[in-house]
Amino acid sequence: NGLFTYDPGFMATASCESEITYIDGANGILLHRGYPIEQLAENSDYIELCYLLLYGEVPTPAQREKFESTITRHTMVHEQLTRFYSGFRRDAHPMAVMCGVVGALSAFYHDSLDITNAHDREVSAFRLIAKLPTIAAMCHKYNIGQPFVFPRNDLNYAENFLHMMFATPCEDYKVNPVFAKAMDRIFMLHADHEQNASTSTVRLAGSTGANPFACIAAGIAALWGPAHGGANEAVLNMLDEIGDESRIEEFVDRAKDKDDPFKLMGFGHRVYRNFDPRARVMKKTCDEVLTELGMENDPQLRIAKRLEQIALEDDYFKERKLYPNVDFYSGIILKAIGIPTNMFTVIFAMSRTIGWISHWNEMISSPYKIGRPRQLYKGYTKRDYPTK
Ligand code: CMC
Repeated sequence: NGLFTYDPGFMATASCESEITYIDGANGILLHRGYPIEQLAENSDYIELCYLLLYGEVPTPAQREKFESTITRHTMVHEQLTRFYSGFRRDAHPMAVMCGVVGALSAFYHDSLDITNAHDREVSAFRLIAKLPTIAAMCHKYNIGQPFVFPRNDLNYAENFLHMMFATPCEDYKVNPVFAKAMDRIFMLHADHEQNASTSTVRLAGSTGANPFACIAAGIAALWGPAHGGANEAVLNMLDEIGDESRIEEFVDRAKDKDDPFKLMGFGHRVYRNFDPRARVMKKTCDEVLTELGMENDPQLRIAKRLEQIALEDDYFKERKLYPNVDFYSGIILKAIGIPTNMFTVIFAMSRTIGWISHWNEMISSPYKIGRPRQLYKGYTKRDYPTK
């Protein structure tokens, strides 16, 4: 009727104003609060990036210390919450458990869920950043039938996550510093990416006035799909399926075949029509980690590199400007660290929580309207109900 435009997939619709993250997809640029992702990855760390995304500036040493100790103080989950896990099947996908458990956090903090109160919003952000690794590691422990491991306040964010994932009551787990650094880098590279599907979901849910824990649970659900965060798990499954360098061309041909639903996982991006800058850093990190571990001849890495090379030289991928995205190399690093494939998307969700909560807070802090898209109705016009 001329009052609104039809834009399926929101190809050309800006849903909000934001000061958090800038992407120039044509030139492969990603800035958080103005800082290039390459510089942040090289010189900063995840906790500092969380502060930057949430508050807009790099923290002073004193601000950083206070922020880090606040996050550390919130890492425990309520004992009652630990009982939720036993309601799930042991073999449940950890993302399924995450959707439920994170949503349930709101049931524990009735006293601080006033979204019009800046202090309540801040405490919710602290709780989410701090508790997500604990909840995620508990998903893994439940999955493999081991007891939950409590967080340790003397470890940094990445070290603590690895500790909760791998320590057992019989054996102390000594965190490998190479693993911890790589893990921190993975957290950083997934921290925020403006109005992607899951962040838009969080904003949409938040625009109704829903509490932040419910909104983040909605974001986790949206992230799960293989076109979004589920891609890192799908990449590893695909590399497994390819199995040998001799079969790469076959899979590339399948990806180009319009009658085959198969896509090269870890390739393509809605916004980047150039190299995903996060993928460059991820590839470098992957090389560093595997070299450090003496695994530079890892067969999956070899398949991944050869696949990348073949795809980048192929006209189909060139014409469509399909480049490897952030998820192409992250799975290989996670696997080298010993993280099971079904936890890859969970790690994406943990990392992205800071982005989600920063966007939610930005929206709630300024005037906003409920998100309510319209549709192009294609059904029947009015007709009469059949009577006997
Ligand atoms: N393999 C083969 N062909 C592809 C691929 C791929 N991975 N990605 C896009 N295409 C083709 C697509 O078929 C289409 O071809 P045509 O013009 O002939 O119809 C063209 O390229 C444009 O693709 P599109 O599907 O219209 O692009 P989109 O912006 O709607 O989708 C995407 C972007 C990321 C969902 C898609 O590229 C994809 O499914 N990639 C694989 C999954 C993946 O790696 N996702 C992770 C994204 S990065 C992490 C994150 O932020 O979540």
